[in-house]
Amino acid sequence: MTTLTADMRRKKTATALTPPSGDARFEQLEGTMKRHQYRQDALIEVLHAAQKLFGFLEPPLLHFVARQLKLPPSRVYGVATFYHLFTLTPRGRHSCIICTGTACYVKGANHLLAAVSQAAGVEPGKTTPDGELTLRTVRCLEPCGIAPVAVLDGTVHGHETPETLREQVKGWLSRGTDGST
Ligand code: FES
Repeated sequence: MTTLTADMRRKKTATALTPPSGDARFEQLEGTMKRHQYRQDALIEVLHAAQKLFGFLEPPLLHFVARQLKLPPSRVYGVATFYHLFTLTPRGRHSCIICTGTACYVKGANHLLAAVSQAAGVEPGKTTPDGELTLRTVRCLEPCGIAPVAVLDGTVHGHETPETLREQVKGWLSRGTDGST
């Protein structure tokens, strides 16, 4: 019984470490790691690339990165769960992250949040029922000089206004539903 459990565990680990053949995204990710010369201190850049390619960081992907960078999986998991920009679960097709750190808050981050929330009908931390948009908040993204800051599909936008954000979000949603709503 003990042997069987150990075998199963070994098999499971092997599966987790083997990228599906023919998935070009793994090759692209490999290319990113190669460009960084498989440096362990490039972990954040590699995870960022992985998330961009796969949409979210599922466990087999984190194991793959850990193996290629020769890092303990616990380290990779630690970084992936520490930074708010990374997600281990599926998200909407589009992503809107609003910084609610002090500088952004002072410059009206709560108005940005309310505008998106209202336009999309979604609460922070949630995804719209049609899977089009995930709205999230983070504490401070660092470019405080251009507050208030929002990250739209991975691109940082400074000096955001509720109007421009609302327009962007409505554009995403109408395209996603063929303008039926
Ligand atoms: S507080 Fe928003 S970027 Fe720093």
